[in-house]
Amino acid sequence: MANSIEHIFSEVPATYELVNHILTLGMDIRWRRQAALIATGAGPGEWVDMCAGTGEMAVYLSRLAPDGTRVRAVDFSATMMAEARGKLETEHVDFVQAEITALPFPDSTIDLVTMSFATRNVNLNREALLRAFAELHRILKPGGLFVNLETSQPPSAFVRKCFHLYVQLLVKPVGRLISGSSVAYAYLSRTIPRFCTAEELAGIIREAGFGEVCFRHLLLGAAAIHEARKAGAE
Ligand SMILES: C[S@@+](CC[C@H](N)C(=O)[O-])C[C@H]1O[C@@H](n2cnc3c(N)ncnc32)[C@H](O)[C@@H]1O
Repeated sequence: MANSIEHIFSEVPATYELVNHILTLGMDIRWRRQAALIATGAGPGEWVDMCAGTGEMAVYLSRLAPDGTRVRAVDFSATMMAEARGKLETEHVDFVQAEITALPFPDSTIDLVTMSFATRNVNLNREALLRAFAELHRILKPGGLFVNLETSQPPSAFVRKCFHLYVQLLVKPVGRLISGSSVAYAYLSRTIPRFCTAEELAGIIREAGFGEVCFRHLLLGAAAIHEARKAGAE
C-alpha cells in the first residue's frame, strides 16, 4: 500500500497545489492557515509537519513559529520533498524523509505534529490509521499537540450527496487535465467519499492514545480540523 501511494504522489508534485486550489476554489489555503494558527497553541519547541508534501503547511508554520522553534517537514516521497525544498529555500524548515509508522524521533520529544490532507492517503483502514496515530502519539511530549486537517463527511445527507457528486464529476477530469495524471486523481475521487466521518476519526485518534480530542467542521463538513493532546502534562 505505502509503495503504491508513494508512486501516486511521485506523479503530481509540479501541479499538486494548483489542482487543490482550483478544486476547492482556494478554500484549502484558508483551511491550512486556520489549522496552522490552531497549531501555534502548542507553544515554541520542536514542530513536525507530517506528510508535508510540497510544504504549504510547513511554510505557514515556519512563519508563525515563535523564537526557539524548529520546524521539520516529514514525508516519504522524495519527489514531493524535492518540490518542497525548492519552494522553502528561504524558510527555516528542515526536511526528513520517513514513513509515518517509523519516524526517526525518540519518544516524547516533539511539541507539535500537524498533518494536512494526508490522513486519507496514509490509509482508509482503521488498523493502519491507528498504527500511524500511535506513532505520532509516541513522539509527542506529554501535553504535546496534534492538529489534523482532512476532508470529511458532511453530517447532512443532502449536503453529503452533493459533495460526493461534485467529487465524482470534477476531481478526476480536472486533476487529469492539469496534472496529466489520471491515477492520482482517480484515487482522490475514490477515497474522499469512502473516508470516515469527523466523529469516527476522533474515535480512532482517541483509541491511538490521545487524551483530549475535539474537532470543528469546515464548509458544512466537507473538511474538518481535529485537535488532540497527549495526556500527562503537569
Ligand atoms: C495529499 S498530500 C498532502 C500534502 C500536504 N500536507 C498538503 O497539505 O497539501 C499527502 C502526502 O502524504 C505523503 N504520505 C502518504 N502516505 C505517507 C506515509 N505512509 N508516510 C509518509 N508520508 C506519506 C505523500 O507522499 C504526500 O506528499
